[in-house]
Amino acid sequence: MSNVVSLHDKTFDLYIHQKDIVETIASLAHRIAADYAGKRPLFLSVLNGSFMFTADLLRHYTGECEVSFVKLASYEGTATTGTIKELIGLNENIKGRHVIVLEDIVDTGNTIDALFAALAIHEPASVKVATLLYKPEAYEKAHPIDYTAITIPNKFVVGFGLDYDGLGRNLPNIYQLIQ
Ligand code: IMP
Repeated sequence: MSNVVSLHDKTFDLYIHQKDIVETIASLAHRIAADYAGKRPLFLSVLNGSFMFTADLLRHYTGECEVSFVKLASYEGTATTGTIKELIGLNENIKGRHVIVLEDIVDTGNTIDALFAALAIHEPASVKVATLLYKPEAYEKAHPIDYTAITIPNKFVVGFGLDYDGLGRNLPNIYQLIQ
């Protein structure tokens, strides 16, 4: 497979190989399983981007757990409320549950901030976040990122579930934008 891929008008270079990604996810899964020993966490996978991360994390998670898939829908509110994010697809009763949100990437943190607010209403016992990728230079929020598989600089990446304008989610490796 070529080290360079083109999506729409942009070109991307191979950045992290699938083998390294999966190894890192496996060790993260073992870490989470150790921390949640004796509990039965509910993984909430945030679509669309986290489907590959979720599959590999769950494949390597050895404890008892449940998984469900949610989505954050954005729509324009009034001038004062700005963009409103609504959590859709939450069918489980999460009251008293230990929830672990699975994200593809944490960039500014706006998405997980909205998620934490939406989940808190349902009174879970705890909410933590596990992300495949984390860009600390771009992160603007206070909430700690509990579990990170891979920390990256503030560059745009695609593949392994992440897209550029709809394309690239199926790429097995992670690619970085060539400036
Ligand atoms: P945040 O709300 O700024 O933390 O951004 C989170 C969302 O922005 C992710 O769930 C992605 O959909 C998107 N995103 C941020 N950075 C990237 C990237 O480098 N590649 C692809 N999507 C990204």
